[in-house]
Amino acid sequence: MVPLRKPLLRTLKTALAYSMYLIPPQESEVMQGAGSIRKLPALMKARGVRKPLIVTDSILMELGLLKGLITGLDAIGMPFALFDGVQPNPTIDNVEDAYALYLKNGCDAVVGFGGGSSMDCAKVVAGRVVRPHLRADKLGGYMKVMLPIPKRLPRIFAVPTTAGTGAETTSAAVITDPAKHTKYTVNDFMIHPHFIVLDPELTLGLPPFFTAITAIDALSHSIEGYIGAAHCRVCDIYSEAAVRIIFENLDKVYRDGRDLASRGQMLLASYYAGIALNRSLTGYVHPFAHKIGGMYNLPHGRVIGAVMPPVFEYYGDTVHKRLGRLADVINVSTPDMSDSRKAAAFIEALRGINRTYGIEATIPELKESDFREIADSIHWECIPYPVPRIMDDEDVFRLLRTLKG
Ligand SMILES: [Fe+2]
Repeated sequence: MVPLRKPLLRTLKTALAYSMYLIPPQESEVMQGAGSIRKLPALMKARGVRKPLIVTDSILMELGLLKGLITGLDAIGMPFALFDGVQPNPTIDNVEDAYALYLKNGCDAVVGFGGGSSMDCAKVVAGRVVRPHLRADKLGGYMKVMLPIPKRLPRIFAVPTTAGTGAETTSAAVITDPAKHTKYTVNDFMIHPHFIVLDPELTLGLPPFFTAITAIDALSHSIEGYIGAAHCRVCDIYSEAAVRIIFENLDKVYRDGRDLASRGQMLLASYYAGIALNRSLTGYVHPFAHKIGGMYNLPHGRVIGAVMPPVFEYYGDTVHKRLGRLADVINVSTPDMSDSRKAAAFIEALRGINRTYGIEATIPELKESDFREIADSIHWECIPYPVPRIMDDEDVFRLLRTLKG
């Protein structure tokens, strides 16, 4: 069931897309380059931080990835608290546990260190600090942290160790509700990280498959907004740069994970894609991925890789021109090709990534009996998104059948 009639929905989406022009761009301080994590403690001290809470996962701790940061904090005598219990899809309990640790230790800043899960968890912990009466499950939706304007928001530091989520530069965080088998999004400008560290040394150990599925996630962030109604000239520049960089460097980092220069480029592309996503928003790909990933506990990038080609094909001629421009960016077009042929060539290039790096084109885990619930979730999540073409139930069911394979 579509929750709102299509004409009303179309008007609402157009209004929301244009309203994005009223929002000033959010800026973060960025430290970039190999070894830049070692400069973070001095930056924190200079910004008046007394005791940060580091939010990360146990695997990164075991891998010793936090050594540079912890050694640096010890060297300047800055105390810190550590929460290393973030799960691959961060849960409400992860946020609540980290928040309890923040309070217990009298912290005044958060550091999200890891993939999107750790950064998202840290961002929502900061939201909890200024909205102590709202448990993490009540922060879902829009502007729950900002209104009324909080007096003091902890400084948020984001340190990505994968090149894909863009969580270091978005004002959104995805939290999983295991009881309801779903994910929900906290959308609020106040959880936008204030400081970002892009250190490619931290991504060197990422295994090839994870390198590929995080890269395809970054690709989706650069494309979804680019073909939607809220895209703008500045975002187009970031999106096109991200797409070009990913297509130029993915194979290099997949074959040789120690290629520091290419890892740095991928980190930059993910950051650019996050900037584009933050301003231009998403389309149908992410609502499909949020619900399917949450329901069957599947990695976000794997679902994104499967969902992108059929969704872009569903959009049809509404996106041919824009996808055609991206085909030009990655050089899979020739001047004599029509927009529709260029768009098909670009979608085929996405399928090529799936084939080359072992990302399944289908999601056999899908169950027909779940389609109703999945469709409802997609319709609701998509209400504010400036999608190129609105789906009804039959469209969603058809795509789900295609994805099931
Ligand atoms: Fe994503």
